[in-house]
Amino acid sequence: MTFVAHRDPIPPSIPTPQEVDAQLLKLLKVKGADPDFWSSKDRDRTDSAHSIFQYPAMMVPLVQRRLLGAVLEARPDIQSVYDPFMGSGTSLVSGMHYGLGVYGNDINPLAVLISRVRTARSVEFTVGAIAERVASSAAADRRDTIETSMANREKWFQADVSLELSRLRRAIRKCDGLWVRRFLWVTLAETVRLTSNDRTSTYKLHARPASEIEKRTLSPIKVFRDLARENAASFSAFRRRLNEAKQLKSAKYVAETDVRVGDTRNAQDYWGSAAPFDLLMTSPPYGDNLTTVTYGQHSYLPLHWIDFKDIDPAADIATLRTTQEIDRRSLGGAAGNQVWTEAKLLEASPRLKRFADGLPAKPDDGRTRLIRFYTDFGASLDSILNVMKPDSYMIWTVGNRNIGGQQVPTDLVLGELVEGLNCKVVTTLTRRIHHKRMPDRNASSATMREEKILLVRKGEG
Ligand SMILES: C[S@@+](CC[C@H](N)C(=O)[O-])C[C@H]1O[C@@H](n2cnc3c(N)ncnc32)[C@H](O)[C@@H]1O
Repeated sequence: MTFVAHRDPIPPSIPTPQEVDAQLLKLLKVKGADPDFWSSKDRDRTDSAHSIFQYPAMMVPLVQRRLLGAVLEARPDIQSVYDPFMGSGTSLVSGMHYGLGVYGNDINPLAVLISRVRTARSVEFTVGAIAERVASSAAADRRDTIETSMANREKWFQADVSLELSRLRRAIRKCDGLWVRRFLWVTLAETVRLTSNDRTSTYKLHARPASEIEKRTLSPIKVFRDLARENAASFSAFRRRLNEAKQLKSAKYVAETDVRVGDTRNAQDYWGSAAPFDLLMTSPPYGDNLTTVTYGQHSYLPLHWIDFKDIDPAADIATLRTTQEIDRRSLGGAAGNQVWTEAKLLEASPRLKRFADGLPAKPDDGRTRLIRFYTDFGASLDSILNVMKPDSYMIWTVGNRNIGGQQVPTDLVLGELVEGLNCKVVTTLTRRIHHKRMPDRNASSATMREEKILLVRKGEG
């Protein structure tokens, strides 16, 4: 099925927010009559350049577009979409199919790099040929200087692998054009993921056994060349589709795109005049990274080979100080800097209080982490609401996780928190997950079989 995005003209009389809620509910009911509509078994890896890097917990572009399409039918005046936890940028590229201004931030520099590549207004069509030349130049390079200063390099990379990654890095640095280099850095990041000694089966860093490492013969230059071909092809398919949807003018995306390195807890400090936004679409973390999805550890090795100045001047190289640093800086990752107090949080969400009270007293680590995460999350909600327009809609996709063998009612907690902040939960949809990659199955991590999609409307005040 070919997906054709279209926008209706703005209707002459503006309906009340309650009328729009009712219209949306009707629309969602009709579309959701097919139980797979929000789940979609069709996984097109090339859709919207989705697979240029295997970022954890990616949303499905088709599902996000369907959600967006429904909201835009009821609110054709929407011009911008914001994702405060954008990851690899799935919400943002979905917004591009409708010609929206797309805005996102993430605390992880690798997420910012990937999203910048995907949401660029202009791209270089010959990037495939450039990547071929980069691979050839790396193959002809005979220098043996190693181009990363990471601690413990020998643990994570075989000597030959480090040598070839260094040659690729030198060749990429010589390329003209920031977008071209960013595209090549993302391709290198995926090359690092596939050629390091880290297991690819989990997001946590964990070296393969020595016996297994010895048996692997790897050529990062070859892996890079193959990936670059795939990435360039999926990118040109994405741009073609944008063109068919009339969202390119003279090969340039029609609206603004803006992706930043930033902590959502203080989003209102850096979004300035780009805000307020018309619509929010996101999937936030479900708990602290260490016990759910270690986005930071997953990004640690690739980031060591990338030129930080090509990501963003605000990208802080100190995030690579330890393997834990990005996860520590993420929601729920560190104690002592919470803006919301535990009392405020538990008063705002009786469900969370009940859940926390029901956790076994020992070990108390589960409760501490839960409260730390949600107090940080509460602070994020304050900031997010500060950059959203009155009566704007928010589409939140949340998953379940377990602590102490019990499932945290993530969707109900979110509902209570936003309702305490003058928002209305219009409806909650259920999305079955067909083949989503699971996070580590350790004691407290999630086994996600379904996700909830909350449609929320911000109040006027
Ligand atoms: C569920 S993932 C988003 C994945 C995304 N929906 C996609 O399709 O790729 C959650 C994201 O929240 C980010 N994050 C965690 N704490 C953050 C914070 N304080 N500020 C901004 N982003 C944060 C993580 O780095 C991660 O990329």
